[in-house]
Amino acid sequence: MAVSRRRFIQGAAAAVGALGLAKAGFWFAPSLPYKAVKVANLKDLKVGEPVGFAYPDAQAQAYLVKLGRPAIGGVGPDRDVVAFTASCTHMGCPVQFKDGRFVCGCHYSMFDPAKNGEVYQGAAVEFLPQIPLKVVRQSGDVFAEGVEGLIWGRVSNLLEG
Ligand code: FES
Repeated sequence: MAVSRRRFIQGAAAAVGALGLAKAGFWFAPSLPYKAVKVANLKDLKVGEPVGFAYPDAQAQAYLVKLGRPAIGGVGPDRDVVAFTASCTHMGCPVQFKDGRFVCGCHYSMFDPAKNGEVYQGAAVEFLPQIPLKVVRQSGDVFAEGVEGLIWGRVSNLLEG
């Protein structure tokens, strides 16, 4: 995929700015508009039972989960359905959904899925990238439509979109 110099510089500037703000105590996640993909249907979701899927491609695992409590960016009638990438922002280990939060077993970082994936314990310093969702009201189909933040270890984070 050819990437214009302007687009590359815009992406790099967004990433550098986000990292600087994060270190200063602010969080700004660059939003990458990947292609929308159907990942679930509302009628199939059960509270606390995550559904795994690959997004934005087969190399990036993610989870969709119905939390049973309202969440920032939550969709569905209870605003409690959210999705996140499954790679820890510390060193890329896979996270698991456990007791209402995402937990990384490598160095025990914990992320709050009701607060945009905020890290509140452990070695990670960046939020778990959230995947914005959209629901088709008539069918209940749930679509993933982008990634807010940079997926750990993904070279193409800045080159897509
Ligand atoms: S890789 Fe997840 S806490 Fe270190």
